[in-house]
Amino acid sequence: MKRRSFFKLGLSATVLGVLRPVKAAEVILDNSLDSIDLVKPIVLSTWEHGLEANENAWKVLAADGPALDAVEQGVRTTESDMSIRSVGIGGRPDRDGHVTLDACIMDQNSKCGAVGYLEGIKHPISVARTIMENTPHVMLVGQGAKDFALGYGFKHVKSPLKEVKSEWKVWKKENKDKFEKPEINHENHDTIGMIALDSKGNLSGACTTSGWGYKLPGRIGDSPIIGAGLFVDNEIGAATATGLGEAIIRIAGSHTVVELMRQGRTPQQACEEAVQRIIDKHDNMEGLQVGFLALDKKGNVGAYSVFNGFNFAVKSKDRSELIDASFDRNW
Ligand code: GLY
Repeated sequence: MKRRSFFKLGLSATVLGVLRPVKAAEVILDNSLDSIDLVKPIVLSTWEHGLEANENAWKVLAADGPALDAVEQGVRTTESDMSIRSVGIGGRPDRDGHVTLDACIMDQNSKCGAVGYLEGIKHPISVARTIMENTPHVMLVGQGAKDFALGYGFKHVKSPLKEVKSEWKVWKKENKDKFEKPEINHENHDTIGMIALDSKGNLSGACTTSGWGYKLPGRIGDSPIIGAGLFVDNEIGAATATGLGEAIIRIAGSHTVVELMRQGRTPQQACEEAVQRIIDKHDNMEGLQVGFLALDKKGNVGAYSVFNGFNFAVKSKDRSELIDASFDRNW
């Protein structure tokens, strides 16, 4: 028997300042593992900025290109958007005013690369891919990552942006002695995680963020950590995460989702179980938003979050939509 999950479409989506009409209709995502493999290629990504990112990923996928190229090109779109305060060098700085970026990428051969605490480089995802393809390592952080990137021809760019610096100065004056959890929504502390299945049936994923706005200097979240912010197993599926990285790391979130799929859960069931695991491990869930997005080898999709408000973009031959994920509770 087929299991179906129902998601309501959002009414509209703002991407790069453009208000896009999105069909107000109910869509059905078929999460049956025995469904026929008809949907590939397909690309999914977190949040509204995923709509624009998916379009660039789609250019690669529609030309029968590899999922790895698609996810890199896709998330570079978001990294280039200086209006986004949670991804790329337009992102919010740490408490000391430094914009530090985290990213990772993983391909169908379980090769992976990651970069953490990287300053002044526009495309951390491409640095992550360069590490994957040119070194015996998986992750470089901080000054070592920066030197590596410069050595491979990435250019230094100045950050924070002027307006971001002004916002940070106001924040610093008001919050010098406070340390609060951020409210996680499409404007604040959200990653772009992207997972794709190409026309040859191969999976890859990418994840990139500037992390928790006004974080402690040195903090790295889930996004550059393989198994936390992203995991791909070409036999089974792929998953990515968004939200409070500390909670995602504690359960190795994306790896957990993929392993649950390996044990027979649908992508939807796997995301729900991973969210439940986070809930079970925390006494106080106040403000602790986490969302998972998953895709199996057949193109079946799942998404689930702790609180309402998490959405994701899906692009395949016949659709380009923003979908509200189902969730455990209201804010
Ligand atoms: N999920 C992004 C972060 O915690 O940095």
